Amino acid sequence: MQLHNKAFQYVFSKSFVYNILFEDTELDEQFLEVDETSSVLSITGAGCGVAGLISARPERVDAVDINKHHLSLTALKVAAAQHLFPYSHFYDMFGRGWHHEPAQTIRKLLPHLPKPMQKHWKKRTDMFERSFYRQGLTARTLGLIRKMGKLDGDWLRSLIDLDQEARMAAVEERIGPLLRNPVVATYMKSPMQLVTLGINFEQRDRLLNAEKSTLTDFFVEHVRRVASTDLATNWFAWQFIAGEYNHERQDAVPPYLRKDRYERSYQAPTKVNFHHGNIFEKLEAAGPKTWSHYTLCDAPDWMPQPLQKRLLNEILRTSRDGGVVLCRSVEDESMIEKNGMEKHFQLYKEGSDEDRSKQYRRVDFYRIVH
Ligand SMILES: C[S@@+](CC[C@H](N)C(=O)[O-])C[C@H]1O[C@@H](n2cnc3c(N)ncnc32)[C@H](O)[C@@H]1O
Repeated sequence: MQLHNKAFQYVFSKSFVYNILFEDTELDEQFLEVDETSSVLSITGAGCGVAGLISARPERVDAVDINKHHLSLTALKVAAAQHLFPYSHFYDMFGRGWHHEPAQTIRKLLPHLPKPMQKHWKKRTDMFERSFYRQGLTARTLGLIRKMGKLDGDWLRSLIDLDQEARMAAVEERIGPLLRNPVVATYMKSPMQLVTLGINFEQRDRLLNAEKSTLTDFFVEHVRRVASTDLATNWFAWQFIAGEYNHERQDAVPPYLRKDRYERSYQAPTKVNFHHGNIFEKLEAAGPKTWSHYTLCDAPDWMPQPLQKRLLNEILRTSRDGGVVLCRSVEDESMIEKNGMEKHFQLYKEGSDEDRSKQYRRVDFYRIVH
């Protein structure tokens, strides 16, 4: 790995960046085919996807991340989905992002967390005293943009009933000038800001190559794409513009937060293991037929091509026949084709148009064939 990517990884892995996963887990839930016989290896990010898996009651989940904050947050979301009662307390914590007794609530969850994560959360119960969703580097940056543009839930609500073209125009008119402001544009390009957005140098170059534009133009186009979706239910738009979820609708929050999923997740027998480290450490220590599913977020975009090839070979070696790989990318070209692995990874669903985070050019579900 090149030095600047190593430096990025070092700083990123020690920072609390995301409080939500910026991937459409409703789409994942629909096409992943996880069931009670499944064994899943997942890169967690902020954990909304891993917490969502529990309602399908897989046999086992191995959750990994190089970022201790993200892994600990995932563990807390999973423990809450499996053990926090009643639903209103669960929703207060992770739907609203605050609880009237956060310290007591977290204390109840501690026995369900691995030791290092117990230590992590004992020191951070105050995060849920006001809004958890205002915390983390991404949320703080979005908060600044919100303040500069006087964006809020009322403005977002006023857009919901406009037609698609009018929504996109309204968003471009209000947010475009903010992102194009020279100070903001320079800040958005800075290495620190890339950490805040979770885009490493490898992925930034891939993104600029695919978009054939500047980062600023990409961000403006990105908010236009988000505005093209149903704004009543797009929780990425709500977190960006309002700094919270739309609590008026159950289908406006990530699936793991909905009451019907909670009812299936509560007391689910799924065993979840947490590994703070690189996914390669987990893969290399595993034998054949260990996992049926691999959910990788867009982490392969952070890897140079030889490392992607090694990742695919390790997945092939450790997977069950008929298993599934889910990965996202900012590139047009599939990582499987680029690495000549089409015989072993067969695309059965491409969901980038349906992913309402609107961040990815590819959202690929592959079937593994040995
Ligand atoms: C790739 S980032 C990008 C953001 C992601 N799309 C999201 O919405 O949150 C997601 C997570 O992957 C983790 N990650 C990246 N490379 C990894 C690796 N080789 N092994 C384990 N975790 C990794 C990061 O720490 C981060 O928490």
